[in-house]
Amino acid sequence: MARERLVYRCQTCGFAAPKAGTCPDCARTGTYVALVEERPALSRSERPKLAAGARPVPIGDIAVTSGERITTGIGELDRVLGGGVVPGSLVLIGGDPGIGKSTLLLQASRSLSSLTGPVLYVSGEESAAQVKLRADRLGISPSGLYFLAETDLQVIEAHAAELKPRAIVVDSIQTVFLPGLESAPGSVSQVRECAARLMLWSKGRGTATFLVGHVTKDGAIAGPRVLEHLVDTVLYFEGEQHHAYRVLRAVKNRFGSTNEIGVFEMGEQGLVEVTNPSGFFLAERPRGAAGSVIVSSLEGSRPLLLELQALVTSASFGTPRRTVLGADYNRVCLLLAVLEKRVGFPLQSQDVFVNVAGGGRVTEPAADLGVVLAAASSYLDRPVRGETVIMGEVGLAGEVRAVAGFAARLKEAAALGFTAAVVPQNNLAAGAAQPLEVQGVGSVDEAVKALLGH
Ligand code: TYD
Ligand code: MG
Repeated sequence: MARERLVYRCQTCGFAAPKAGTCPDCARTGTYVALVEERPALSRSERPKLAAGARPVPIGDIAVTSGERITTGIGELDRVLGGGVVPGSLVLIGGDPGIGKSTLLLQASRSLSSLTGPVLYVSGEESAAQVKLRADRLGISPSGLYFLAETDLQVIEAHAAELKPRAIVVDSIQTVFLPGLESAPGSVSQVRECAARLMLWSKGRGTATFLVGHVTKDGAIAGPRVLEHLVDTVLYFEGEQHHAYRVLRAVKNRFGSTNEIGVFEMGEQGLVEVTNPSGFFLAERPRGAAGSVIVSSLEGSRPLLLELQALVTSASFGTPRRTVLGADYNRVCLLLAVLEKRVGFPLQSQDVFVNVAGGGRVTEPAADLGVVLAAASSYLDRPVRGETVIMGEVGLAGEVRAVAGFAARLKEAAALGFTAAVVPQNNLAAGAAQPLEVQGVGSVDEAVKALLGH
């Protein structure tokens, strides 16, 4: 008895898919041809014998050996990894080009090589001279750090087999390729295959492997996204274009929590750990200034704290001006109307300017309450109380509505050193443990009273 399976293969890049149509890999239409694969059913005698080693085991009987960890010498990186890197694990570091991924991994390679053994740094993006220049700038020249400018994965494997490194850095996964595959380096199938091979390599030999992956603004073509399910740990390195601070964040971690963040500052001599992020984030914020509030904005599943500023000044003549940068203009007008009607602030005679500091953007309604309080604070010329993070959606009746991702926002605020938050009353109903002091408010009026005493 034979079983048949239909497989469609792209004529251009060889990508296999379960149905005909546009190739998801090289995006050409109508290039699939149908092939029939014959797969004979296994006869009884051919069925695989049950291996003696791997059997179903009651979960309670499994012995846990606490995994060994290698420190990277960079405290913030170790923390995000869950206390150092696990030998044999595959770690993907994603981020925009130029954010500092190569710098971070070169700095990590320094201490890894002096603490644990040889480290192989493979770059398909930069020449040996370029990497040496950066290493000199960073003052890095340990004897155990080896550099290889190569993109053919088979050659990389051959060198690695000889060197037997404790850790390998592949910068970047988009540049390496397997010659056997027809598609170009950086395509989905190349990236996936290469990562899968590196996975087998590192698991088999206990080598910690770091992959660099570039993310594009529109969410990564053939980038970290296609690898997230495969690797053990996914870290994203982020930062504001015009700011020196960088945040390293785990979005997946088989060996630790994904709630940790690492904060760095890009300086003249590379990345410097920022051990007191709250102090750092608040450094540029005018303390006790009226009209400045901290709001929580959820980017995908990642919470981000932003400083939102409002300036309310009396309008000189005619229609008052409303100028909004970094937030939705109509939404801000709506919120100012709520503040006027429900709390009684006479804003029709006032110009209002709203700005998200540092070129940030707030795109979600959870920042509503922050806009209202910033405007009220500026109008009253009274700063909001203490180091408080503000979150809540505001309705037209002046009610404060619950926000999504509440626990994650509070965790982020606590991680960045904030001690208090003003939050929607309805979010507190669930009664979860709070990592910082929270005050629930049900209406805009209540929030203005609580934070501005008006
Ligand atoms: P890089 O690590 O090359 O970024 P990525 O690998 O993510 O593309 O770092 C790029 C930027 O960092 C570059 O614009 C220069 C800057 N930089 C510094 O400001 N200080 C330094 O010491 C180094 C090494 C880089
Ligand atoms: Mg780089």
